[in-house]
Amino acid sequence: MKIGVDYYPEQWEEALWEQDADQMQKIGVKLVRMAEFAWSRLEPEEGKFDFSWLDRAVSVFEERGIEVFLCTPTCTPPLWLFEKYPEVIQVGTDGRRIPIGIRGHRCLNSPVFRSLCKRIITEMVSHFKDNAAVVGYQIDNELEANHCRCEVCREGFRTWIEKKYHTTDALNQAYGNTVWSGEYSDFSQVEPPMGEHIKWQNPSLTLDYNRYASESTVDYVRFQADLIRNIDSRAVITTNNWLCENMPDFYEMFKELDFVSYDNYPTTDIPEDEEALYSHAFHLDLMRGIKRKNFWIMEQLSGSVGSWMPMSSTVKPGMLKGYALQAIAHGADAVLHFRWRTAVSGAEMYWHGILDHSNVPGRRYQEFAGLCQTVNALSDLEGSQVKNKVALLYGSDQEYAFKLQHQAENMYYLEQLKLLHDGFTSIGVGVDIVDENADICEYSVVLAPNLMITRQEIVDKLYRFVDRGGSLVLTCRCGVKDIYNKCIMQPLPTVYQNLIGAHVTEYDVIGDKRLGLQWNEEGSLPLIYATQWCDLLETDTAKSIVKYARDEKKTADKGVTVPFYAGDTAATCNAYGKGTAYYIGTVANRDFYKALATRLAGEQGLNFYPDLPRGVELTFRQKGEESWFFLFNNTDRVQNFELLERSWSLAPFAMEIRKW
Ligand code: GAL
Repeated sequence: MKIGVDYYPEQWEEALWEQDADQMQKIGVKLVRMAEFAWSRLEPEEGKFDFSWLDRAVSVFEERGIEVFLCTPTCTPPLWLFEKYPEVIQVGTDGRRIPIGIRGHRCLNSPVFRSLCKRIITEMVSHFKDNAAVVGYQIDNELEANHCRCEVCREGFRTWIEKKYHTTDALNQAYGNTVWSGEYSDFSQVEPPMGEHIKWQNPSLTLDYNRYASESTVDYVRFQADLIRNIDSRAVITTNNWLCENMPDFYEMFKELDFVSYDNYPTTDIPEDEEALYSHAFHLDLMRGIKRKNFWIMEQLSGSVGSWMPMSSTVKPGMLKGYALQAIAHGADAVLHFRWRTAVSGAEMYWHGILDHSNVPGRRYQEFAGLCQTVNALSDLEGSQVKNKVALLYGSDQEYAFKLQHQAENMYYLEQLKLLHDGFTSIGVGVDIVDENADICEYSVVLAPNLMITRQEIVDKLYRFVDRGGSLVLTCRCGVKDIYNKCIMQPLPTVYQNLIGAHVTEYDVIGDKRLGLQWNEEGSLPLIYATQWCDLLETDTAKSIVKYARDEKKTADKGVTVPFYAGDTAATCNAYGKGTAYYIGTVANRDFYKALATRLAGEQGLNFYPDLPRGVELTFRQKGEESWFFLFNNTDRVQNFELLERSWSLAPFAMEIRKW
């Protein structure tokens, strides 16, 4: 377990480096990350390199027993480079080059940019490869799918399309291009989606463009990783992942890298609405699932965030430490806080670090010092892993398809996944979020929401999974489209009909409205309601488990109305082979997902903890026969409760770590 910080020696007078490193050493910092934006200081003129200052910075830390993670500085090329090679600047959807002076605005496909990257990376890695203090490399910074429309990318996209479809007839057929006279007669007519009206373009084209943009980034990561490994075959390499508008397919991206790292900025504002999800655990489980192994946090929340938006509230007492330990509870092996000291200049001066502009150690510094002490005492956990029996499938294509054609007001792909994740989290059952293409044999429960884009291998895998005894949950918007993002001409959920033993006769899109739902079974089940989407289901072999309520008094209280399909089925359960397939044709409230998770955990004989208070998380790490549990109070109030045969009183954001 390592605790560290992100540090920017190029932004401070050298006299401060020693002071900073002394202070870090005193409180137990073990690792610093440096140099991801320092290209202009490392290559001040084309072909003239200066690593002397970085050497000095590395040794300041090395002398104090602090290891260094270096970054390739390719996120921010220097101004001389843009001036001399303007063709490397990204082109936006308006066909214009993005104004420089910011960061990340370089085209990852540009051969000129790649050759300039190659030179600086070769120099850097050759220079540091025998330096024992340098323990690894981060590639670039927070990569996105390369949404660039420069000549190189436009041509690259055409070539990509031609290679995929071979003839324009096949392409026209795949895209259904008879609509709006969209037929191509030559591949030279293929253009990436441009302009303001991208949502009016053919969704088959926009999805393919996203795939191409993602593959461009994956190729860029491979290019940098190969370069580094060619010079230093033992190099440890990662890149810092984040969740952005144009996410690359991170399962593909990390195939080339040693481990996943993630920039973790949980919100500091706690929602008052009990229905609002507050599950940072979801993102951590998503990151662990990418390589199905432990990960690092390369940047961790340390204070109020802001700069290109109004500043957020500050981290409350306990949050800085609690959120870092929460990451460890979900499989992080290192946490580096962003950043040691808040920048006094530049665009990011209000994104707060551990120390404020004043450099006077304050409340957050004291809390961080406590965190360092706690993490440094966790050496027993070294080598322990998080292993779960529930898998939640995530698909990069699904994410794009949802973004490209928004299905209903406030219906976002990730939020849909979070609802199911939240159900299991609320009863202390861990969830692995894995690629929809991953092997799922080791799981007992598989949650597969919103599989809008249909891949036959995934369909077959899910049928097999249930047949062999697994419990599966499918939800509305499964089976809607083929692989080309065209609708399938069958009753929904099309290819999954036999598996769920039911079909959709009609659907209604209700956005933020709420409709009452009613369980078909007796028992102490919570009040539930539907929002956003309503499939009207007819059962074939399945049993109806939830209906749209006829009587508003029996349903959840606020603002519930009775629709014309009151009495129709909203969710089903079907015995298939040795297992069970559930279909949830709507989006419900949190209590529904908790009840569903409880039912599934019971069905598969998993341990679960129905008395866990809302907002308290229970997770486990295991190493051989040993295991530890983590109890985290992810709320701003004291939580008193009984669990595992004893009483607990957890302060806001407090974490308890115990041997199981
Ligand atoms: C991350 C980025 C950092 C810093 C931080 C705060 O997205 O990697 O360099 O900008 O956010 O803004």
